[in-house]
Amino acid sequence: MGDWDSRCRSAGLVRQISPNFTKALARFFGTGPTDVEASIKAHNKYVEALEENGLELTILPGLENHPDCCFVEDAAVIIGGAALICNLGHPSRRGEAESIADALSQHLETIIMPENAKLDGGDVVFYDDYFLIGRSTRTNKEGVEFIENVCHERGFKTFVFDIPSSTLHLSTICSSPAPGILVTAEGHLRPEQFNGITAEIIWVPNKESYAANTIGFENGCVIISAGYPKTAELLSQRGFSVTSVDMEHIRCADGSLTCLRLFFK
Ligand code: GLY
Repeated sequence: MGDWDSRCRSAGLVRQISPNFTKALARFFGTGPTDVEASIKAHNKYVEALEENGLELTILPGLENHPDCCFVEDAAVIIGGAALICNLGHPSRRGEAESIADALSQHLETIIMPENAKLDGGDVVFYDDYFLIGRSTRTNKEGVEFIENVCHERGFKTFVFDIPSSTLHLSTICSSPAPGILVTAEGHLRPEQFNGITAEIIWVPNKESYAANTIGFENGCVIISAGYPKTAELLSQRGFSVTSVDMEHIRCADGSLTCLRLFFK
């Protein structure tokens, strides 16, 4: 573990923007999406950026009844070749996971959570042989316990973070662009919260917190959100080839790069 083999980067799943995207939840940094057409174009560019890095994508249609349905990361967590299907933490998002489970079950074993457990996949960051798990407004104690058991049964370690109530998910402020490396945001998590994890940590400045959410590839490319020059500089200096995607429309719905994809192989 701790290498690229244990990270899924060959096949993934995305879902198109809902026709009702303007009703998506936006309670953290987002101001609420206003333009569905522009959001669809931005999503298409995002999909192209993933495909340019070699991913074969399944593209599910958007759901009218679920304005947040493009945020597929929240619906499942891939753990050692199995898909844990989440009970999403916000009532308006219940029902998004069924079609994701159907799609993933064609490729992987699926694991169902007990009813009292709530977990958004956005609260989970895979890092080397760890699953980093956020206890947030969307992920409860039972959800944390359930996923920890699944991870441990499959030989992974877990590490739990308390996420400040000002932050949506762990992945909002933390990502792993390559084995051995974490990117996180100053002012949201504190260095001492990482005690016990061996990692090179790249801290992005607080005013660029949104850019702590990255997607890295084995070819050395890392995708970041456009408009965050200090983060681009930090990652370039670290040896990554940085490309950026305009995320402004997605950000309006509190969404980040990783929220829009599920990598499963
Ligand atoms: N808008 C994404 C979420 O709140 O789940």
